[in-house]
This record gives sequence, C-alpha cells and structure tokens, in this order.
Amino acid sequence: MSGGGFDLTGRTALVTGAGRSVGEGIARELAAAGARVAVNDLHAERAESVAGAIGDAGGRAVAAPFDVTDAAALADGLARIDRELGPVDILVNNAGVPEGQRTIPFVDSAENDWLRQIELNMLASMRVVHAVLPGQLERGWGRIVQISSGASSRGLAIGVSAYGAAKSGIEGLVRHVATEVGPSGVTVNALALGLMENVGQRASGHLESLIAEVPVRRLGLPAEVGGAAVWLCSSYGAFVTGQVIHLNGGSLNGR
Ligand SMILES: NC(=O)c1ccc[n+]([C@@H]2O[C@H](COP(=O)([O-])OP(=O)(O)OC[C@H]3O[C@@H](n4cnc5c(N)ncnc54)[C@H](O)[C@@H]3O)[C@@H](O)[C@H]2O)c1
Repeated sequence: MSGGGFDLTGRTALVTGAGRSVGEGIARELAAAGARVAVNDLHAERAESVAGAIGDAGGRAVAAPFDVTDAAALADGLARIDRELGPVDILVNNAGVPEGQRTIPFVDSAENDWLRQIELNMLASMRVVHAVLPGQLERGWGRIVQISSGASSRGLAIGVSAYGAAKSGIEGLVRHVATEVGPSGVTVNALALGLMENVGQRASGHLESLIAEVPVRRLGLPAEVGGAAVWLCSSYGAFVTGQVIHLNGGSLNGR
C-alpha cells in the first residue's frame, strides 16, 4: 500500500480521455508516483500509446479504450480494469471535449450541441463516480478528481456556453458528493483549468494575444495538472475536499 507523502504505490487509478494532452500528463504523473494506471480513451491507439510510454518509463499501465458516454461500454471497461489492475481507488474524470466539438454562440447553437456537452461533462462523469464510489466507501479510501474549466465560473464570449454550463453542473456535484462522503476517507475535488498548451496549438492565428492575457505569460502544461492530481490523490491531499482549484497562470478572465 501507499507509503505516505506523495507515494501512490498500491493504488489503482483510472484517467478518462488520457490518450493525449491533459489526460496523458495526468496518467504519466500518477504512474510516476507509483499508481497502476488505466489509460482510457475513445481512440484505442492513443490509449495504447500512452500506456506503452508509461511502461517504457518503468510504470504500470494498461490501455482501457471505451467511450465513457456509453453506459454499457463503461460497465464492461470498469470490470476489465478491476480484473487487470484491481478496483479503482483514484478516478480522474478528464474526458470533457466531445469529438468534433465546435465553438458556437448560444443563440446559434442547436439542442444537440448542448446534449453532447451535458452527456460527456455531466452524465458520463456522474456515472463513473457512481460506479466507483461504493467500492471506495467500502474500502475506506478513495480519490475523485474532476477536470473542469475556468468557463464554469466566468462568462466568456467565445462560444462555450453549453460547455461552461456542463462544467458548472459537475462542479456542483463535486461539492455535494464531497460533503456526503466527508467522513469516509474519500475526497472529491475539481481542478479548473485555464488555457493549456494544446489549445494554443489549435489557436495558431492568435496565440500571442491569448498568452498576453495570462499573467504568467504562458500556457499550462499537462504535467502541471498531473502534479496537482498527484497532490490531491496523495496522503497530503486528505484534508482537501469539495474544492474547485483553479490552475490558470493567474488568469482573471476564467480561461
Ligand atoms: N486544453 C485546455 O485549454 C483546457 C482548458 C480548460 C479545461 N480543459 C479540460 O481538460 C480536459 C482535457 O482536455 P484536452 O484539451 O486535453 O482535450 P483533448 O481533446 O486534447 O484530449 C481529450 C481526449 O479525450 C478523449 N475523449 C473524448 N471523448 C471521449 C469519450 N467519450 N470517452 C473517452 N475518451 C474521450 C479524446 O479522444 C482525446 O484523446 C477536459 O475536461 C477539458 O474540458 C482543457
């Protein structure tokens, strides 16, 4: 079992959407801290590549490809993780950008745009929490980390209303579930991210103006989110629950 401090030896972690970017950084850092990691992604080849890289670095990981919005696939995936690595002690709900997502002003959006955000950021996250929580309560130890966004708590005129609404909703769940399970040894928190490196790559045309808005004058790195996740999931994180912690380089505009 875990040796205390930041050591996660003996813990099994599931990171959703971990085949690249932020999720990959979280999976790598949890593994470096000693956890056995199930690397989930919609795309099997991404999950396998990250699990392979963790193995090459001396860690323990398996690819766990499935669509977290598909309840049956989720149940199968969790059963497989349980068989291969043990029950999930650490859950990081990171998958939050629906495939092919577009930014669009709310007035021009269709109900289907909202549903995709709500299905992934709220319903899927709730289902995974609901599935792993009973075992964590029974074992008297667990860590749930929800990846959120500054868009949860600020209005932004960049076409992310439904996304922001879904992130706000899941932060509400974090606060309530954390309070319900407070005495149990299970903590539930959210990390609300500002602009990360991969968004900078997407926003090729106006990267400099985006960076100019960030007080530390750079974009966030996946490993920095991974480090925060390690802290929350470690024994040092035990007194932190029900919180939304912003990792955003000091940005005041919520991005
Ligand atoms: N990148 C940013 O600037 C930024 C800012 C704020 C918050 N976030 C949050 O960080 C998290 C990760 O974002 P990212 O930018 O790294 O995303 P990304 O699109 O670069 O990577 C996400 C991964 O999730 C996978 N995925 C998508 N839908 C899935 C599903 N239904 N089931 C399983 N896997 C699925 C994708 O295949 C992809 O590999 C999200 O929750 C996002 O809202 C990111």
